[in-house]
Amino acid sequence: MLTAPLTADALLTRTRSVRRRLDLTRPVPLSLVEECLRIAQQAPCGSGRTPAHWLVVTDPDTRAELGRIYRSAFADQWSGRVPPTGLTGAQRRSIDSAAYLAQVLGEVPVLVLACVETGAPLPPGNQAALWGTLLPAVWSYMLAARSHGLGTTWTAAHLRHEKEVADLLAIPEGIHQGALIPTAYHLGTDFHPASRPPLNTTLHLDRW
Ligand SMILES: Cc1cc2nc3c(=O)[nH]c(=O)nc-3n(C[C@H](O)[C@H](O)[C@H](O)COP(=O)(O)O)c2cc1C
Repeated sequence: MLTAPLTADALLTRTRSVRRRLDLTRPVPLSLVEECLRIAQQAPCGSGRTPAHWLVVTDPDTRAELGRIYRSAFADQWSGRVPPTGLTGAQRRSIDSAAYLAQVLGEVPVLVLACVETGAPLPPGNQAALWGTLLPAVWSYMLAARSHGLGTTWTAAHLRHEKEVADLLAIPEGIHQGALIPTAYHLGTDFHPASRPPLNTTLHLDRW
């Protein structure tokens, strides 16, 4: 069945984290991922900086190993932390689905690792301009993926084990990982805007 393309507003408000509804069995053509990355390359990039680097992992053994590292990092992130009480239903569902993703990440057909190049250790001080060169492109990739029928989730848990990931994927020093985006066709097509705090709780007019 043909569906109408999403409007820009619908795309921006209905691109949700997809975890339980990632289709782990349907292969994703590399050409489709490349098309989404070409779109993402149009994101803003700090002047004089190298744009985002993309490491696309499709090899099953490498994905499995990356999945193992992610699972271990995710477990470290939660170890010793009492499950938070007083969560809303949406927050509880989000944590549960994150735990599900940690179990299956290595089975997701495509894992896209977004990196930024400095050629040196991360600089001290405010790094907004550095990460600002990478992170908008990551979101553009997720939006492009959604508009091409793919589901994604922003993940960062693996960064606790960044060196182990770098060793696995032969990432040289001076290249810094920013986000890991599991990518697959999604099961089902209904996506709704997320619940967010009212704008007036975060909007400051003229002064804080
Ligand atoms: C900086 C950042 C890091 C995140 N890290 C993870 C992660 O490691 N694992 C995960 O499952 N989701 C991760 N998420 C996704 C959030 O948990 C997600 O935005 C949240 O579940 C809300 O879901 P929504 O897209 O439906 O609003 C991350 C999101 C951001 C922006």
